[in-house]
Amino acid sequence: DRKIKIAPSILSADFADFGREIQAIEAEGCDWVHVDVMDGHFVPNLTFGPPLLKAIRPHIKTVMDVHLMIAPVDPYIDAYAEAGADILTAHLEAGPHIHRTLQAIRGAGCKAGLALNPGTGLDAVAHLLDMIDLVCVMTVNPGFGGQKFIYSQIEKVRSLRSLIGDRPIHIEIDGGMTPETAPLMAAAGADVFVAGSGVFKGGSVNNAAVYGENIRAI
Ligand code: DX5
Ligand code: ZN
Repeated sequence: DRKIKIAPSILSADFADFGREIQAIEAEGCDWVHVDVMDGHFVPNLTFGPPLLKAIRPHIKTVMDVHLMIAPVDPYIDAYAEAGADILTAHLEAGPHIHRTLQAIRGAGCKAGLALNPGTGLDAVAHLLDMIDLVCVMTVNPGFGGQKFIYSQIEKVRSLRSLIGDRPIHIEIDGGMTPETAPLMAAAGADVFVAGSGVFKGGSVNNAAVYGENIRAI
């Protein structure tokens, strides 16, 4: 059976202290580190460029899981790959040539992820199964941490699991993960859970035991 992974989003970490924040969540048992890249265009918020990823890369011992909420994507793939991404996830909605984008991600030596906004259906996934290592199902509209889980995505994940079957493709859920919502998605067939506010709330680098409690609760 599928091993559940927790990927804390450093969007909810202390931006002035990424090195110690990453060490803390890894010491507390997270599986991957999720990095949310936003461009103020595809989504209404701005976050991290390749130099920042390069700076935090040496602190990440697990997996650097990079979620690109940018359009266009293709001109930036090599820069994010060179900055040290293990997984690069692009949005289906970010451009007309997702197949080319996924080819370029693998060509740059990364695992390829496909992200779907809450309003996007699964039709395209069937034609991309040999191109992807992960599907990221957004359970909030991308752009901000701390939003409410969108329940209609449970049914989407159930359909996605039957589409994927036993292929080695992760189903990652991103947004609004709590001890209440994550089990619903695990039951529907998801195996990777991104959580920002759900992991970092109530803790700090000096009180990292709280991160561990939050990780285990999800
Ligand atoms: C939203 C990001 C998420 C976000 C999750 O655009 O992709 O990764 O940080 O935050 P929470 O867990 O607080 O909903
Ligand atoms: Zn994300």
